[in-house]
Amino acid sequence: MASTRSALVDGLIGWGTYVVGLVPAAVYFWLGATGGLGADPVRSFEQTLGLWALRFLILTLAITPLRQLVRINLLRYRRALGLLAFWYAVMHFTVYLTLDRGLIWSTIIPDIARRPFITLGFAALVLLVPLAITSNRWSIRRLGKNWRMLHRLVYVAISLAAIHYLLATKVLDPTQALHFALVVMLLGYRLARGVFVRRPERRIA
Ligand code: HEM
Repeated sequence: MASTRSALVDGLIGWGTYVVGLVPAAVYFWLGATGGLGADPVRSFEQTLGLWALRFLILTLAITPLRQLVRINLLRYRRALGLLAFWYAVMHFTVYLTLDRGLIWSTIIPDIARRPFITLGFAALVLLVPLAITSNRWSIRRLGKNWRMLHRLVYVAISLAAIHYLLATKVLDPTQALHFALVVMLLGYRLARGVFVRRPERRIA
C-alpha cells in the first residue's frame, strides 16, 4: 500500500516537473506564433530552446552537489530534468532542421560537418540519446554498474554543449559567462570529489 502510494507520488512529481519544464517552450512558441519574438522569430525561438536545453542539463547536474553539500534532496526530480534537457535539445535541433534550414539536407549535412560549433552541438545531442533511452528503472536494473558508467557521458555532453554555446556567438555576454561558469563549477566539483573523496557514493538513485 505504502509502495503504491510512493509510486503514485513519484509519478505525479515526474509529470508535474515535465509540465512546469515545458512552460518556457510553450510560452516562446506562443510568442513566436503571435509575432512577439522580434525581428528574427526563428532565431530567437531556436536560441531559447538551446538555452533551456543547457539550463536543464545544469539543473540535472546540480542535484548531486545540492544533496551532498547542503542536504537538499531533489533526487526524485533528476530523471525528469534530464529528459527535459534532452527534449529541449531535440526541439532546438528540430527548429534548426526545419524553420532555420528548411530541411535542405544538401546544406544541413555540410553545415553539421564543417562548422565546428554546430558539430559540437550535434555531438552533444547524439550523446544524450543513449542517456534518454536508458533513463528508466528497467534499464537501471538491466545495465547494473554499466548504467552509471554510461550516464557519465552526461559530463562530456554538457562540456560539448557549453563550448557550442560559447562558440555560437562572437562576443561573450553575461548570460553566456554565467552558464559557462556554472558548468565549470559542476564539472570541477565532480573532479575534485573524484580526487579527494576515496569512497564515492555507490547508490543509484
Ligand atoms: C545538447 C545539445 C545542444 C545544446 C544544449 C545547445 C545549446 C545552444 C545554445 C545555448 C545556443 C545559444 C543560444 C543563444 O545564443 O542564446 C545554441 C545556438 C545554436 N545551436 Fe545549439 N545546442 C545543442 C545542440 C544543437 C544541435 C544538434 C544543433 C544543430 C545541428 C544546434 C544548432 C545551433 C545553432 C544553429 C545555434 C545558433 C542559433 C543562432 O544564433 O542563429 N545546436 N545552442
